[in-house]
Amino acid sequence: MLEPSADEIRDWGNSVIQFMTDYLGNLRDRSVYRHMSSDRIRDRLDPALPSKGTDFDGLLKVFREAIVPFSRQNAHPRMFGYVQSPGTPLAAFADLLASTLNANLTIWRSAPAPVELERLTIDWIRQILGFDAEAGGLFVSGGSMANLTALAAARQTKHHSSGRLRMYASSATHFSIAKAAALLGIGWEDVQHVAIDERFKIRMDDLVAKITADLEAGYVPFCVIGNAGTVDTGAVDPLMEIREIANRFHLWMHVDGSYGAFAVLAESARKLFAGMEQADSIALDPHKWLYLPVDVGCVIYRDPEIARAAFAHKAEYTRMFGEEADEAFVCWDYGPELSRRFRALKVWMLLKGVGLDCLSAAIESNLACARYLESMVQASDDFEMVAPVELSIFCFRHVPVQLRSQSPEAIDAFNERLLVALQRDGNSYLSNATLGARFALRGCVLNYRTTLRDMEILLDDLRRVGRTLPA
Ligand SMILES: Cc1ncc(COP(=O)(O)O)c(C=O)c1O
Repeated sequence: MLEPSADEIRDWGNSVIQFMTDYLGNLRDRSVYRHMSSDRIRDRLDPALPSKGTDFDGLLKVFREAIVPFSRQNAHPRMFGYVQSPGTPLAAFADLLASTLNANLTIWRSAPAPVELERLTIDWIRQILGFDAEAGGLFVSGGSMANLTALAAARQTKHHSSGRLRMYASSATHFSIAKAAALLGIGWEDVQHVAIDERFKIRMDDLVAKITADLEAGYVPFCVIGNAGTVDTGAVDPLMEIREIANRFHLWMHVDGSYGAFAVLAESARKLFAGMEQADSIALDPHKWLYLPVDVGCVIYRDPEIARAAFAHKAEYTRMFGEEADEAFVCWDYGPELSRRFRALKVWMLLKGVGLDCLSAAIESNLACARYLESMVQASDDFEMVAPVELSIFCFRHVPVQLRSQSPEAIDAFNERLLVALQRDGNSYLSNATLGARFALRGCVLNYRTTLRDMEILLDDLRRVGRTLPA
């Protein structure tokens, strides 16, 4: 089976396409999530190390019966948990084709057309964001890797400094930033958590105060993070003001746009992102709001040459001979990885196959769903918002009439139980956030299949499930 016949490949393909069409055709009828235990899943998987092979039908049967039903259905229109993209059929085919070609995008010479396609799609993303023509970057595995990569480049700018480096990010920043700092040897404690305002955005007065105090104490401030959509509430920091502070104190400005940056494509949200295009680097996740399947993250540098200083490495076994500048392009000079899969194919197929107008409309529709949920919550007497809706994330809680006179702790405890019960019910799926010490139900609309009606069903589900819980 290492080398199946053409007929076998065709049969396998037909079976897979049959599965795909059935699966996607019945998505709405499925539970988003089924309660499951590790034991129940393991019981369905033959644990013996296989010395002989199994035919393709047998493999597909295990996938269909033991894997699919015991997975969370991320493509479901009421999967509102975390920041989860649904994937697209077009991109699933692109992944199949990428693995068939098995291009390895290390340098231009190893994968000429795939590297050209990556450079083209990176340039399309640069244009979407509004960066200058010199900006460039790479696809990486996800937002965490993009943040790590960008911060390695940022650190390079101060590598001759003898003092201890300090960076600044609002307290609502995703943990991958602090983790990246720790991995780079900067240290968790040298990431200064800047206070946030009532809209969960970075407070500029606290940012300036922290930088000034650090300078006086002999630290070396080197980088400030702006969020283009925080993970808990979707807040977009004032990016233009952050740019000004970065200029004043000679800091690298990095934007974490992993969740929100592609919402710049939606007319109704565009103005929030003013200043994003002036960042020194930005982390993005096409596997979030470009709806692509994992994994594809992206890092863009305003000046890619600075990144080269952080990553370029010359080893004799990688030396290239007699090539022109474009053909001598070395991917590993701009990021930490050597072997890289052909992620650009699915980004290119989506952008080219669907077009920006369609993507903009889908993102606009996601924003409208979150705003509709907020308006229904505000008009109700049994739900309340815990944070304003900025993009497509909504944080709220259920306060049925009999709970209104109870303590905030009792309301927190009820909503925690409600979240678990909702997830086990399976008709809609939310995750959670803690905002100002209060527990919040948290949802994120990131699926082109989600409709306004799904937002109504979510509130109905919460009321129905809530009635089954002791108050
Ligand atoms: C704002 C933000 N940054 C970074 C990340 C990390 O992205 P990834 O899961 O692709 O590593 C996330 C993930 O949800 C996020 O929301």
